[in-house]
Amino acid sequence: MNVLILGSGGREHTFAWKLAQSPLLTKLFIAPGNAGTDALGENVNIKVDDFAAIKTLCVDKQIGMVVVGPEDPLVKGIHDFFLADADLKNIPVIGPQKAGAELEGSKDFAKEFLFRHNIPTAGYQTFTADNLEEGYAFLDTLKAPYVLKADGLAAGKGVLILNSVEEAKAELKEMLTEAKFGAASAKVVIEEFLDGIELSVFVLTDGENYKVLPTAKDYKRIGEGDTGLNTGGMGAISPVPFADDVLMEKIETRIVKPTVDGLKKDGIPYKGFIFIGLINVDNEPIVIEYNVRMGDPETEAVLPRIKSDLLELFQAVGNGTLNEKTLELDPRYATAVMMVSGGYPEAYQKGKVMTGIDSVEDSIVFHAGTKLEGTEVQTNGGRVMALTSFGDTMNEALAKSFASAEKVKFEGKYYRTDIGFDL
Ligand code: AMP
Ligand code: GLY
Repeated sequence: MNVLILGSGGREHTFAWKLAQSPLLTKLFIAPGNAGTDALGENVNIKVDDFAAIKTLCVDKQIGMVVVGPEDPLVKGIHDFFLADADLKNIPVIGPQKAGAELEGSKDFAKEFLFRHNIPTAGYQTFTADNLEEGYAFLDTLKAPYVLKADGLAAGKGVLILNSVEEAKAELKEMLTEAKFGAASAKVVIEEFLDGIELSVFVLTDGENYKVLPTAKDYKRIGEGDTGLNTGGMGAISPVPFADDVLMEKIETRIVKPTVDGLKKDGIPYKGFIFIGLINVDNEPIVIEYNVRMGDPETEAVLPRIKSDLLELFQAVGNGTLNEKTLELDPRYATAVMMVSGGYPEAYQKGKVMTGIDSVEDSIVFHAGTKLEGTEVQTNGGRVMALTSFGDTMNEALAKSFASAEKVKFEGKYYRTDIGFDL
């Protein structure tokens, strides 16, 4: 079967790497891809939300499955577009239709869903410019710190955590009346602050059955010790050491199962990944967000631990037979350390020549923001490359990832040397 992967990051290179191992695969296409995916299939220079160009590609190349990496095309309805088109409707799309993608596309929708299905989450209220005063009054009933979330997609930047109620009111006003995050902040969810340690759980579902994939923890801040600006993610560890059987049992019965059942009850078809962001508060798992795709760089630590044929699992997602499949996992730790361009997540330069990639032996190299110029690999984004390693302990795996990160060279290279410091 020919498979098309949409996206260009480390997540998509990891999907390509894993799918390329499947005997069911004929040829991989990646749109737009990066220098890493180029070695595993054919990169096609199409944007992930150019549905018309994606259609042409699928027809020309006889694509038998589409795997959607990022959320944007899902929230824009790529799966619905396929179902509505006579030429495309039989091609399985891994990723939910628009209705399911609202779990990530609208924080207010997600909160309503969580409350409707009695899934543990922080208390909240939602406001618009029309009831700003009520928003101020709600903030007065809460204790610091204050959590404000732009309702819509804001490229990971839409959540503000503020220490004073004055700041929170000023930000609320800016979000609602001055479009601080554009249309995404026309509605704002204000929620209770939860104090605990975060982890992420990934679920693959065909809408009826599900498999719980390995857990992971990512490191979002740019600086050591979780300081500085938020990034897309600077590293990830799988499994999460504190996610023992007792906690996982709570997560599955209180959160995963009610989520899949809730989608069914609401009549929302869902084929794809559910990424559940949790905070563990005194051993009670509480949902802070849903994403409708895999995480990046969590994918770089989670997928290498899956021993089963991922393409076979995806086929089962497509035809609703996931219950007939088993999920085999590698018990070892996997760690992903992300190398980024100097300056990221603020302004940074691209086009820096990368060397030493071939000298990496103890890690899997997953390209993110890279491109090929002739035979030369150059940087082409903020997050440049993830180095994934296995180990019987977390520290053994991390030591390999850090050593590999030393070997790859480019001007302005930066990575966090304290991934896993809190575990
Ligand atoms: P989200 O985009 O919803 O994942 O929020 C981004 C980050 O804000 C999360 O990864 C958490 O670190 C933090 N956060 C979100 N909601 C809460 C909350 N209710 N209490 C504490 N921290 C939160
Ligand atoms: N690493 C966080 C995310 O993919 O949303």
